[in-house]
Amino acid sequence: MNVIKQLSHWLAPREGSNATTRAGELLASLLTMAWFVEARDPYTGGHLWRVSRYAQLLAERAGFNNSDTARISLGGFLHDLGKVGVPDAILRKPERLTEEEYAVIQTHPEIGSRMLSGHPLAYLVQDAVLLHHERPDGRGYPYRLVGSAIPEMARIVGICDAFDAMTSYRPYRSALPRDEAIAIIHEHRGAQFDAQFADGFVALGRTGRLDHVMGHSDDGIPLLSCRMCGPTLVVHREHQAGHHLYCRNCSGEYELTMQDDRLIANPTGKKGNAADLKPEADNELIARTVNAAVEALPVAKLLAQPAASFGPA
Ligand SMILES: [Fe+2]
Repeated sequence: MNVIKQLSHWLAPREGSNATTRAGELLASLLTMAWFVEARDPYTGGHLWRVSRYAQLLAERAGFNNSDTARISLGGFLHDLGKVGVPDAILRKPERLTEEEYAVIQTHPEIGSRMLSGHPLAYLVQDAVLLHHERPDGRGYPYRLVGSAIPEMARIVGICDAFDAMTSYRPYRSALPRDEAIAIIHEHRGAQFDAQFADGFVALGRTGRLDHVMGHSDDGIPLLSCRMCGPTLVVHREHQAGHHLYCRNCSGEYELTMQDDRLIANPTGKKGNAADLKPEADNELIARTVNAAVEALPVAKLLAQPAASFGPA
């Protein structure tokens, strides 16, 4: 599959600026990869988009400039790339993980970091990919970094990732309500979560400024629910009434219909075949995210920079 060819329909044309076009294509291929990693788990639809949105909102609140905010938001989108290296049996295990299984999960930041090595734009997001499970109290992984030794981007993404996990449905538990998840972030400020960023996030949460992201997979697009499996149906912006969606857990087929100005999913009683069930990246969303990042980042300069090295020596 030629991802860039598919995406080129959506990527903004940037005549006369090869570096910008190239940076856009390079970012688009990374985001597409992350999308397919996410698609392995039927219960994580929209997670990357939500983490990137939460990270953007928190970075803006913390006063980061446009280009750093764009970088932090990209880090949110790409943080879990390394999960491609974690077997399904562990990634999707509903029961408590054994110590050995947890050790396998803990390899994903380093796998992601290795996947990125050599990528000309890796250093933009490397901190988020490698260090989003570090904790200010030194009890995180992979390096048990403490406090300010953890880059700000990783501290921000860590909070957003945890909040989204808590407020998302899982087959073995329901989603926590917003205020309960916010209370947990508050309770663990300064230990699991950076105190200052946690305070900012709690303030955003309590004033309802995360509500349009929770339970959504794009701006204005809520996750829809499979009758058997919960919120596994991800609607893309270009989907319209009549479009068929498939639950990635049970393969149940749903048809979108318009009711009171919004799309709802009705079961058709059929199951999808292999072609129906193949995961499809939301190219329009990916290109929109890339276009916004390329607008905000000094990409030409960034492409010219030598790759930095990451992680403690
Ligand atoms: Fe992770």
